[in-house]
Amino acid sequence: MRLATIKELLASKNLLQETTIKGWVRTFRSNRFIALNDGSTLSTIQCVVDFENFDEELLKKINTGAAVKVTGTLVESQGRGQSVEIQVSALEVLGEADPEEYPIQPKKHSLEFLREKAHLRIRTNTFAAIMRVRSTLSFAIHNYFRENGFNYFHAPIITGSDAEGAGEMFRVTTLDEKNPPLNEEGEVNYKEDFFGKETNLTVSGQLEAEAYAMALGKVYTFGPTFRAENSNTSRHLAEFWMIEPEMAFFDLDANMDLAEDFIKSVISYTLEHCQEDLEFLEKRLLDEEKSKPQAQRSEMPLIEKLKFVANNNFKRVSYTEAIDILKNCKPNKKKKFSYIIEEWGADLQSEHERYLVEKHFKCPVILFDYPAKIKAFYMRLNEDGKTVRAMDILFPGIGEIVGGSQREERLDVLKAKVKELGIDEKELWWYLDLRKFGTAEHSGFGLGFERLVLFATGMGNIRDVIPFPRTPQNAEF
Ligand code: 4AD
Ligand code: MG
Repeated sequence: MRLATIKELLASKNLLQETTIKGWVRTFRSNRFIALNDGSTLSTIQCVVDFENFDEELLKKINTGAAVKVTGTLVESQGRGQSVEIQVSALEVLGEADPEEYPIQPKKHSLEFLREKAHLRIRTNTFAAIMRVRSTLSFAIHNYFRENGFNYFHAPIITGSDAEGAGEMFRVTTLDEKNPPLNEEGEVNYKEDFFGKETNLTVSGQLEAEAYAMALGKVYTFGPTFRAENSNTSRHLAEFWMIEPEMAFFDLDANMDLAEDFIKSVISYTLEHCQEDLEFLEKRLLDEEKSKPQAQRSEMPLIEKLKFVANNNFKRVSYTEAIDILKNCKPNKKKKFSYIIEEWGADLQSEHERYLVEKHFKCPVILFDYPAKIKAFYMRLNEDGKTVRAMDILFPGIGEIVGGSQREERLDVLKAKVKELGIDEKELWWYLDLRKFGTAEHSGFGLGFERLVLFATGMGNIRDVIPFPRTPQNAEF
């Protein structure tokens, strides 16, 4: 007999069918009602056990967390709260869970406690809902690009380049850490390392994606990226997933149009396909916020917020306009910001980004044309000689969710920039080649996948939207 899923059974109109299901016990009430979950849906199915027909020793093993096999008949439910239930005829315990030891009991656990049990937290409704939404979002992303003529491109994970130039990389080496080979200057000789040069885990697949866009037209990466930045915030991970589309013949406006359409589209898809999980997460958030002061509560319930983003235009504002707004805003004048905005050229902190989005515009914002000095080397220089064709998308509750730009396609301008920053031209020889042979206007952006999942699930900490988070001092599991 084919194993049915609980999702199928709950939707089934085919009553009185004999079925077998396997799942994990959520609760077992009155020695009679098993609430069984198999991950196919948030809901449990009620399995009604006539305890007189079963061995007492067997029933003792039906504890929260135990894996069981249930055979029975699907019948209309007598009780409230579910339409169908299973009248159990046979019951087998596949794997026990000792209630003295099993940490995920049917009560409220704090997210902090569950982070320490990351291998088991997925057995809670909250984490199962988050991870189903995460899975649906990643499917929606691939789907969007497929439907829009993009090729999925796998960027290398091990690389010799630092795309963002921030030096926040994890080194990859096989050299003997206690006794590395040294060169004549007494420094570690990476020529003798596995790759014959210094290598690291990639911070971004962009540079390689550019090479592919210059032949395939439209490509995207969706893979893990790594940053050794020591920022212990609720928005940063040392290992996170990034989606990076790269398009030949796209200028910055086309890039912004694509980014906005893309985000709206994947959010709409998720609204359509994850209704049950989103309703659960919305309720969770409302419960959690009851204990917070009014000022810290979100203005919209989760689903309304997602619909708002999917159905309204993002506000496009230049960096220069944004600085004017920030210089003159109340929290800046009253010195409420940790970093006071004094003049044009200042780098924006998350507090400024969130002010613009949450207090000033009250919608997602795309900031563009940033000062060249605070952005990466590859962005296209504007005619003014001091700003670059950069764009960041800022989201309520999140801050920066997307970073992108039109790329510098002029060989001489790019070479001058590389020189100015003291980067060795030889390291970028292949990247410069792209400007030497058939160069063309092109653009792209990077969306931090976990930040999107944070937004879509209404969760507050990025550690709760990736299965096994890697952060400073933490790589358990
Ligand atoms: O703004 P970033 O650094 O841009 C790039 O890496 C470009 N190469 C992208 C491109 O144009 N192809 O990073 C892009 C996004 C950020 O907006 C943020 O959402 C996310 O990646 N991000 C992080 N997410 C989690 N943890 C971190 N430590 C992150 N750093 C960046
Ligand atoms: Mg950025």
